[in-house]
Amino acid sequence: MRIAVIGAGSVGRALAGAFERTGHQVIVGVRDPDGAKHADLTHERATPRAAADGAAVVVLAVPAPALVEAIPALGLVGGTVVLDATNAVGAPPPGGHATVGDLVASLVPEGVAVAKAFDTIGAEHLATGTVDGAPVLLPVAGDEAATAVALELGAAIGFDAVVVGGREAFAMVEQHAALWIALMRRGWGRDFGFAVIGSPRRGEP
Ligand SMILES: NC(=O)c1ccc[n+]([C@@H]2O[C@H](COP(=O)([O-])OP(=O)(O)OC[C@H]3O[C@@H](n4cnc5c(N)ncnc54)[C@H](OP(=O)(O)O)[C@@H]3O)[C@@H](O)[C@H]2O)c1
Repeated sequence: MRIAVIGAGSVGRALAGAFERTGHQVIVGVRDPDGAKHADLTHERATPRAAADGAAVVVLAVPAPALVEAIPALGLVGGTVVLDATNAVGAPPPGGHATVGDLVASLVPEGVAVAKAFDTIGAEHLATGTVDGAPVLLPVAGDEAATAVALELGAAIGFDAVVVGGREAFAMVEQHAALWIALMRRGWGRDFGFAVIGSPRRGEP
């Protein structure tokens, strides 16, 4: 797949590397593609709009407050899958939305499928989906077309990816991220992830 990763911070870079490693064509969207800040980027890069143009999948890896400006600037068209890897940290989601996922869904045009994914663990673990060699649980929520893509990409990277619901489950995924962040801040450091124990049946509900 042609995947546009919007943002070249720690999340954007980790995911771009992981998607490329698992066989996808990646283009990173940055506001200043020729700037010195991104000179060390090994991935193809372009402006966010040019990166999103023709991409089957667009991954959002920018600070939550930037979404309000960044999403309309992408020129998204129906049929695109958007994966939202962002979290509102230290402030509520912009625009009075209950979740950042809801904000994203409100900003994309009709026919764009949205899923929340890749926001629930520190960026350094996004490259492999594992901690100490064990697959980390990757909860995914949103529109069917988008959760299917997130599931496939997540599993290929190495995660134990699961769909936990539709758009109504954005909050669940963001709370999962909030738990990771809270424990990290309570002194756990960043070298941990959540995994499933036991033998749940993993079929369709
Ligand atoms: N860090 C983590 O461990 C982690 C883990 C999971 C999820 N997240 C979430 O993932 C998102 C990205 O986190 P990060 O740590 O990678 O952030 P970061 O290091 O601050 O990088 C953010 C990137 O977003 C770009 N950006 C900012 N405003 C933009 C705009 N209006 N249009 C296009 N690009 C814009 C920045 O570009 P410039 O260089 O041009 O400023 C930068 O490349 C956040 O929402 C965060 O909550 C973070």
